Amino acid sequence: MQQFGIRPEEPDDWWEVEALYDLCFAPGREALSSYRLRDDVPPVAGLSLVARDGQGILAGAIRFWPVHVGDHDALLLGPVAVHPTHQGEGLGGYLIHAGVEAGHTRGWQRVMLVGDEPYYSRFGFTRLHAVEMPPPTNPDRVLGLELVPGAWSGVQGAVTRWCR
Ligand SMILES: CC(C)(COP(=O)(O)OP(=O)(O)OC[C@H]1O[C@@H](n2cnc3c(N)ncnc32)[C@H](O)[C@@H]1OP(=O)(O)O)[C@@H](O)C(=O)NCCC(=O)NCCS
Repeated sequence: MQQFGIRPEEPDDWWEVEALYDLCFAPGREALSSYRLRDDVPPVAGLSLVARDGQGILAGAIRFWPVHVGDHDALLLGPVAVHPTHQGEGLGGYLIHAGVEAGHTRGWQRVMLVGDEPYYSRFGFTRLHAVEMPPPTNPDRVLGLELVPGAWSGVQGAVTRWCR
């Protein structure tokens, strides 16, 4: 990833990151139920990252939100996106590893997301059978990763908006 400058997202990056997400995701992405968990909740400070190429053009970005799952706290990974001209160069994987590691360092115990298992399984994400995202969400796409052993054991119930 030496060709990219990677640093925490700052307030001035916000709309550029939104434009990258608009480019990379299907129209209407904000209608997805995962966005209702983000409404009026700021992303977790320090975990959201931006990657810029040598010309300073945004090449990739990742954000994390806090959520509750039943009585427990979890990180909600995403959105993560890499500009089409840089996909397949390892940047998405780098951003996911770096963001997850930063979450671990800050004391988070578990991460979840809604996404493609064939992609996220390479990072250790597996199906969360007892975790319920707000409908309509395909339960096959609800995935989790333990940052400490056993962190998802016995964690079940509805995913709800952060309220602290
Ligand atoms: C998904 C995404 C972030 C991956 O970033 P990237 O930098 O291209 O990924 P990497 O270079 O780290 O990894 C590329 C590998 O992932 C695979 N891959 C990418 N998206 C995949 C998907 N949805 N399902 C399965 N495999 C996928 C590629 O085929 C490639 O496989 P290979 O290593 O066997 O060649 C990027 O493709 C993207 O922005 N896609 C559009 C937005 C999106 O779907 N975001 C994720 C949902 S939150």
